[in-house]
Formats: sequence, structure tokens, C-alpha cells
Amino acid sequence: KIRRITAPQITARKGGEPIVSLTSYHAHTAAIVDKYADFILVGDSLGMVMHGMDSTLGVSLDLMITHGRAVMRGTQRAMVVVDMPFGTYEESPQIAFRNAARIMQETGCGAVKLEGGARMAETIRFLVDRGIPVMAHIGLTPQSTNTMGGFKTQGRDEESWPQHEADAQAVTNAGAFAIVLEGMVEPLAARITKQIAIPTIGIGASAECDGQILVLEDMLGLNEWTPKFVKVYGNLGPAIEQAVSEYTTEVKSRAFPGPDQTYR
Ligand code: KIV
Ligand code: NA
Repeated sequence: KIRRITAPQITARKGGEPIVSLTSYHAHTAAIVDKYADFILVGDSLGMVMHGMDSTLGVSLDLMITHGRAVMRGTQRAMVVVDMPFGTYEESPQIAFRNAARIMQETGCGAVKLEGGARMAETIRFLVDRGIPVMAHIGLTPQSTNTMGGFKTQGRDEESWPQHEADAQAVTNAGAFAIVLEGMVEPLAARITKQIAIPTIGIGASAECDGQILVLEDMLGLNEWTPKFVKVYGNLGPAIEQAVSEYTTEVKSRAFPGPDQTYR
């Protein structure tokens, strides 16, 4: 039996070979990612990517658990991290623990991730002290899109740097095992990465981070639009369209099913 990568093993990678991560929401793609990634994130971006929502705010705990279970079934090696969705952890450390425990129990995943810096430090400490590894997430935090006024790259204004640096330090002191830096200018990501003792995982936060993560569907070219920080490594959108189009033509011309696909 293959042992899964653990949260302390991720932490130990600080400053070493870059940590590789992608999101996955279901068993089949997760099985492919599992061959390469150190950890797989079941991100609440699944609300937008898989379910056509226009933000992550409508994602429920049950939906995260459903997808978390699918990803766990499809994988054996990578650590699986499941996002805590909006409304399931902000209110109190106790409520956060109850919901994080459900995620851990019902999916078998290795850690949870939640958004927020200093304001979430007490909650992170509460969960970690009770056996739940927590990945933090600061910078552009999509669950706060309504208070931030949209999706904006963070740190363009140097005066904002101390707050982001304090957030990174606070979640580190609270016991987070790693931290996602999202949508952040390179010099700020570099400063934070140097200042804290846990690995930074960047998304739109430059190569200065200790690791990188992307949304799988984005890097596979399955979304019509992708932001600047995404590199499209595979053009699956057009490939799927080509296949569906050929199938349509062959059904209409009765070329499919052919002799090979027919029981005689
Ligand atoms: O939900 C998600 O996909 C994420 C990553 C972008 C870090 O939180
Ligand atoms: Na997320």
C-alpha cells in the first residue's frame, strides 16, 4: 500500500524543490494528477468550473464533501486538501472545527484549506491543536469578492505590503502547514516567501513561491477565458469539440456505429 504524502512532509519542502499542485474535482482527472502532484486541492472553484456558478459563495459543505470523496477514491499518493466553503468556518473556531471534522471524516482527506490571514489565526490554531492540518490562503481571496470589489491583484500598492506580510506571519504562527498566495505581485510574494517558515504555494503570485498551483481545467484549456497567470498546457476544449462534432456527423450519416461497434 502506497503511503500518502502528509502535511508535515509538505512543510519540510520549504525552500527546496518546488511543490507541485493542481486542483481536481473528480476521480478520473485526479487519478492522472496523482501521478505527479504533491498535493491535490479540491477547491471551491468547483462551483464555477464544474457547476456554472458565478462565484464560489454558493458552494455548500455537502458539495465539497461529494467531490472530496470522489478525488480520494481516484487517488492514492498525493495529499488531498479540501477547501472549506464560504459560511462554514468564519463564525467561530468551534463551528469551523465541526465542519472541518465532517470534511476529514466523510472524505478521508489529509487537510483543509480556508481563506483569510490574521483574522483567521485563532481558528487555524483551534483546528491544528485538535488534529486538523490547515492550509491558509491569503492575497486575492475569492470568497471575499464582494468586500474586495472584485478579483484584484494584491500588493500593487506598496503601502499594502505590511498587512499581507502580517497575515502570512499570523497564519504561520497559528500552525498552518503551508499557505496559498493568490493574485499577488512578485516582490510581495518574494518577501513573504523569505519571511515565513512554511511553504508558499503561488497562483498568480510569481515563481518566487515555494510551489505552484493552477486550476486543472484552466491549464487544460477547458475554459473559454483564462486570466494572465494561467498557462494553457493542453488544448482540451477544441479537442473535445472536434470529437463531439465528428460523432454528430457520423451518427447523422449512419457511419457510427460501424461493424466494429455492432453485435452480430
Ligand atoms: O478553489 C481553488 O481552486 C483555489 C485555488 C485557486 C488555490 O482555492
Ligand atoms: Na478556493
